[in-house]
Amino acid sequence: MSNYHIKHLEEYFQVYRKSVREPEKFWEEIAEEHFLWRKKWDSVLKWDFKTPEVTWFEGAKLNITENCIDRHLATRGDKTAILFEPNDPKDPAEHITYRQLYERVNQFANVLKAEGVKKGDRVCIYVPMIPELAISILACARIGAIHSVVFAGFSATALSTRINDSDCKLVITSDGSYRGAKTIDLKGIVDEALDSCPGVLTVLVAKRIQSDIVMKDGRDKWLQPLLDAASKEGDAEIMDAEDPLFILYTSGSTGQPKGMVHTTAGYMVYTAYTFKNAFQYRENDVYWCTADIGWITGHSYIVYGPLANGATTVLFEGVPSYPDYGRFWDVVQKHKVSQFYTAPTAIRALAKQGAEIIENYDLSSLKVLGTVGEPINEEAWHWYNENVGKGKSPIIDTWWQTENGGIMITPIPYVTPTKPTYATLPFIGIQPALMGDNGEELIGNQVEGRLCIKFPWPSIARTIWGDHKRYKETYFTAYENMYFTGDGALRDEVGYYRITGRVDDVIIVSGHNLGTAPIEDAINEHPAVAESAIVGFPHDIKGSALYAYVTLKDVGESRDHSNLKKEINQLISDRIGAIAKLEKIQFTSGLPKTRSGKIMRRILRKIAEKDTSNLGDTSTLLNPECVEEIIKNAL
Ligand code: WT7
Repeated sequence: MSNYHIKHLEEYFQVYRKSVREPEKFWEEIAEEHFLWRKKWDSVLKWDFKTPEVTWFEGAKLNITENCIDRHLATRGDKTAILFEPNDPKDPAEHITYRQLYERVNQFANVLKAEGVKKGDRVCIYVPMIPELAISILACARIGAIHSVVFAGFSATALSTRINDSDCKLVITSDGSYRGAKTIDLKGIVDEALDSCPGVLTVLVAKRIQSDIVMKDGRDKWLQPLLDAASKEGDAEIMDAEDPLFILYTSGSTGQPKGMVHTTAGYMVYTAYTFKNAFQYRENDVYWCTADIGWITGHSYIVYGPLANGATTVLFEGVPSYPDYGRFWDVVQKHKVSQFYTAPTAIRALAKQGAEIIENYDLSSLKVLGTVGEPINEEAWHWYNENVGKGKSPIIDTWWQTENGGIMITPIPYVTPTKPTYATLPFIGIQPALMGDNGEELIGNQVEGRLCIKFPWPSIARTIWGDHKRYKETYFTAYENMYFTGDGALRDEVGYYRITGRVDDVIIVSGHNLGTAPIEDAINEHPAVAESAIVGFPHDIKGSALYAYVTLKDVGESRDHSNLKKEINQLISDRIGAIAKLEKIQFTSGLPKTRSGKIMRRILRKIAEKDTSNLGDTSTLLNPECVEEIIKNAL
C-alpha cells in the first residue's frame, strides 16, 4: 500500500522518480496490489511511438466491472456507490449501494445479452445524467461490449455520424431529459438520427420524463419491463487487457470526430490510481464531479476511477442555475461533499452571480476542489479559492485530454503547493516535454513551447476507431518519438507547468473541445454562404467563444442579416449541437488568404481579440485589401 497514497512532497518526488526510472516495475506493483485479475500479465509494457503501438499488461485477463463492483461487495456491499441527485431538488436523492449496483448492472447486462449483444459489439449510449447512464456503461463492460457514449446534448446529425462511424447496432436512450426548468425530447432526436443509421436494429428506452413518445414497432423497447424480468446475477465476461473498453469521440481540427479507443487494463489502473491520489480520496468521503458522463471526465472520474476505489460518487442530473445559482452549494451541503470537481466555465458563471449566495450554505465538508477542461484564469482561481474553499481547500487544476484517459498534470492536494493558473507538476509516471520551433526539446526551466509526452502511460488511447493512420498523423508525427498534445505550455522557474492553450484549430468553449472544420462545414451548408472561418476570442464566462467570418454568395444583394445569423446558428445546432453556436458573426466580402489559398486564421484571431497592433506582414496575402475591411467592421 505504501506507494498508493502520496502523503507529502518528498514522497511525491521519490515516487515520481521511481515511476520514470523503472516505469514497468512501478506500474506492475500498483497493478499487483490493488486490482482483481483473472490472470496476471505476461509483459507489463510494449511500446513504439513510430507505428504507433502501445500495450500494457498484455496477456492479463480481467473484467473491469469485477474491479469496480464485485470485489467491494464483501466489505462495502451497503455503502453508497452512486448517489443520484435529480434535476429537481424537491425530488429525493437516490442512494445506490454497491450491492444494488451489482444487481442492476447484471440485470442490464442480461437484457443486452438477450438482445443479442456480444463481446466486441459496439453499443451507443445517448442517455442523460440518470443512473441508467452509469449502469448501461457498466453493463456493456460486464459483457465485453464496447460502449460509445454520445453526450446527450449533441444533435441528431452528430449522433448519427458517431453511430455509423463505429457501426453500433443497439442504441440506449431515454424518453427525454430534464435541463433545469426545461425538458428535452431526446427520443425525437434519436428517431431523427436513426433515419440515417440503417445498421441500428434495437433501441432501448429508459423512462425519465413520462412524456408521450412514439415507439417504432420492432425496433424500440421500453427498458424497465425488460430489466424487471432479468436476473440480478450474471458472470462477467473475461477480457484481455488490451480489449477495447470504450470509444469516445472528440473533435479534431479537421474533418470527422475522432473515435478514441480506450482499452481495459491500463485504463483501469491509471484512472483508479489517479483518482485516489489526485483527489486524496479517503474511505468515507463523498466525491462529486459535475461533468457529464458523456465526456471523458465523467467516464474516468464519475464512473470508473471512483468505483474502482469503492468510492461514493455523486451523479448530478441538474444544472448550476436551477432552481437558482445556489444549486451546487445546496448539493455540497446536503450530501456533505468532500471533493468537488468542476470546470472553469462553471466557476466563472457562478462568480458572476456574486459570493453572497454561497454564504447561505455550509460548505465545511469540502476538502479538495478541482478544475478541468480549459485554462483557469487568475480571477476565477481566486474566487474559487476564497469563496468556495475559504482559503483552506487546495485547488487542483488538472490538465488532461480525452486521448489521455486520465489526469496528466496536476497538483496533489495537501502535497504540492498550488499556484494560480498552474497545473503544476506531472502526475506520477508522466514525462512531459516542451518542444521549440525547430523541433528541439527545450531543456531546463523558464521555457515555453509545445507540450508533448515522451513515454507511454497506462491509459493512453490506443488508436482512433477505424483510422489508425489518422491516429499516427495527429499525435505522433509532429515530433519524433513523442505524443503531441496540441497544447502550448510553459515551465516556470521551479518546474511548474502552465497550459497556455491550443496551438491548433481546436477551440475550447465552456470546456467543450470544438474543432473549427465541422462548424465551418455546417455554416457553409447555408445556401447563401460562400465561405467561412471560425476563430476563438476571450469570453468572460465561456473562456473562449466563437467568432465567425462569413462571406456570402450574392454580393450586392442586401439581405436581412439578422435572419441569416439565426439560420446559420440553427444549422450549427442541427449539425453539431447548441454548444457550438456562434457568439459573433461578421459578414465580409473576403477572407484573408495565403497565396496557396489557406485562410490566415492568425490574422482573424487577432482581429477577433481586438488586437490589431501586430498583424504581421499582410502584404504577402492573396487579398490584403480585405483585412482593412474586416478590421473596420469588426464586432
Ligand atoms: C483539451 C482537451 C480532460 C477533460 C476535459 C477536456 C484543455 C483540459 C485543462 C487544464 C488548461 C486544459 C486542453 C486539452 N484542457 N484541461 N486544466 N488547463 N487546459 O477534454 O475535450 O479532450 O479537451 O482541454 O486544451 O488539450 P478534451
